[in-house]
Amino acid sequence: MRAAPLGALLALACWCAGAAAQAQLPAGPAQDVASIERGRALLANRHETGCVLCHVVPGFAAGGELGPSLSGIAQRGVAAQLRQRIADARQFNPHTIMPVYGNVSGLQSVAPAYQGQPVLSAQGLDDIVAYLMAVAR
Ligand code: HEC
Repeated sequence: MRAAPLGALLALACWCAGAAAQAQLPAGPAQDVASIERGRALLANRHETGCVLCHVVPGFAAGGELGPSLSGIAQRGVAAQLRQRIADARQFNPHTIMPVYGNVSGLQSVAPAYQGQPVLSAQGLDDIVAYLMAVAR
């Protein structure tokens, strides 16, 4: 499945502050072994993910400061937690400004073309986690 571009989601969707994030995280197991290279490409892609607009990410020259630096994130938790944070940061902070990448529940005003599609696939989440676990040490 093609993931919806973040731009569309950021521009057209907002979620209820405080809306209970349902624990309906994406799509079962990814199809491929997680790939650090694909994870890097996703992180770098401002259109699809925008991660570097808000975070300093090891391996990237420029990074934003709306969110915490991801330097050392691999040492602060396990891969599964990291994946959950990226998939749906509302589970940890219902008021977060971080977009929801791997869940479609509780989003509002999503353009019809993108409804029901998470920004990142299960594979994409795994790939980003693989990159961060390998590089953000
Ligand atoms: C609009 C800004 C924004 C974007 C885009 C964004 N984040 Fe975040 N992120 C945040 C903020 C703010 C936090 C701080 C925690 C909170 O708000 O709950 C955060 C927290 C995190 C954390 C936890 C950090 C910690 O120290 O515990 C991780 C990991 C993370 N983001 C990864 C990502 C990844 C990967 C992407 C892209 C797929 C991304 N973020 C995109 C704003 C953003």
